[in-house]
Amino acid sequence: MLDLGVGGGRTTLHFAKWVREYVGTDYDPDLVAACRSRFSGYPLPLKFEVCDARQMPLFQDQSFDFILFSYNGLDYGTHEERVEILKEVRRIGKPGGFFCFSSHNLNACADYFDWGRLLSPNPALALQTARRLARRFLYNRHLNAKTFRNSDYILFDLGRRTYFIRPRAQVAELEKDFFNVRAFGLVSGRELAAEELERTADAWIYYLCQFR
Ligand SMILES: C[S@@+](CC[C@H](N)C(=O)[O-])C[C@H]1O[C@@H](n2cnc3c(N)ncnc32)[C@H](O)[C@@H]1O
Repeated sequence: MLDLGVGGGRTTLHFAKWVREYVGTDYDPDLVAACRSRFSGYPLPLKFEVCDARQMPLFQDQSFDFILFSYNGLDYGTHEERVEILKEVRRIGKPGGFFCFSSHNLNACADYFDWGRLLSPNPALALQTARRLARRFLYNRHLNAKTFRNSDYILFDLGRRTYFIRPRAQVAELEKDFFNVRAFGLVSGRELAAEELERTADAWIYYLCQFR
């Protein structure tokens, strides 16, 4: 298994015990050092490597049965960088193996682009409303409701530039290069049917697909 963008090793705890060989990577050397130290006494040999997911020369073609990029780690680059990462992931994944990742849901951004949802009359939500107004009009003033409605993906600044994509568009993209593409809701944890992809407003969605 390859755990991309392993961060502080949150997912290592859940997955390492189930796989024959576990490799965690991150482009932040401090996080890789923290994982090495955290899991130094682990009863199985685990590997942690510094590696940018855009270029992974460390790994040969078709090396992994399972590749995970959890907690929206894929969302912190441009569209072009995301395409590069997905290409590398396909190169090092074994045919028939699995790729799982999560990504922010553009449907959920409706709260920022619809005045009725943006301005809550409830005083208890004043702080949330103020935060949303700041995000919408200070950090993302180049985006308007029409762009939001007509886009399959946008880069939205939440304090950090973040990639948001419509689940329907993400599934369609994955279907070009992977097979058995499935999407799972964050709130219910259950698989979403094709018609639910249009309307789900979960903050992010988990995708699972297989390498050709
Ligand atoms: C939100 S954290 C998730 C950490 C961990 N996977 C988890 O689920 O708790 C995203 C991680 O992805 C890493 N990351 C983002 N883009 C990356 C890239 N291009 N290559 C390698 N790591 C990356 C970040 O450094 C960060 O540690």
